[in-house]
Amino acid sequence: MPSPILSHRNARAFRPEKLSAPRDFCVPEVVHQTDTPIVLEIGAGKGKHALGFAIANPNSHIIAIERTRTKFEAFDKLAKAQALPNLTPIHADAIAWTVHAVPPASLQQIYLLYPNPEAHNPNQQWLNMPFFEFLLSRLQAGGKITLVTNIESYMDNAEQQATILWQLPSMRYRVHSDSQRTHFEIKYLARGETCWELVMQKPEGYQTRFDDWKSSNK
Ligand SMILES: C[S@@+](CC[C@H](N)C(=O)[O-])C[C@H]1O[C@@H](n2cnc3c(N)ncnc32)[C@H](O)[C@@H]1O
Repeated sequence: MPSPILSHRNARAFRPEKLSAPRDFCVPEVVHQTDTPIVLEIGAGKGKHALGFAIANPNSHIIAIERTRTKFEAFDKLAKAQALPNLTPIHADAIAWTVHAVPPASLQQIYLLYPNPEAHNPNQQWLNMPFFEFLLSRLQAGGKITLVTNIESYMDNAEQQATILWQLPSMRYRVHSDSQRTHFEIKYLARGETCWELVMQKPEGYQTRFDDWKSSNK
């Protein structure tokens, strides 16, 4: 099969076939409901943003993934108490889970809110990872990825990677000082720190090596 003409400049390919499905894995029905806008949050912490998003956007469905057990349990307890039909909390590593659960071009929006800084391991920053190409393949054309951080060097690198490596149009903003979307956002803004937001958009016709890739688990 001829390889597609890629829309980005990332040479090193991600290998989804090397990842096993997470333990107790099951695919939520909603990922196959084409009439519902699906939103994915990676690294949801205790779920403050996901809960607020689900309440404010009853016609969308947010899947929010957190891998740290203690944080996930706090999130899951709140989610169960509120019983929001359009919120699915997931306890898993987001990379393996996305590979096995999310169909191509199915997501309207992805949130990466205050990711771990990975200062000593910059190849683990989201836009430096080969996995980012797979994530782009799961996004619909016109879909958006929102990255927010309080670390200026993380944002400078992400903005450069979005433009040069991933060839994505993007807009960078300063987060308003009274924003309260997540626990980390509240903490950083209360300390007087500046937080930045980068919104990237997947253009129509954008091609990756994973546009037809589907897990055998589905
Ligand atoms: C700095 S915290 C931010 C939490 C939350 N977004 C907030 O702003 O309050 C980053 C979170 O991402 C989670 N995380 C990092 N890598 C992840 C992955 N591959 N899959 C799922 N969660 C991940 C960590 O467990 C941690 O809770």
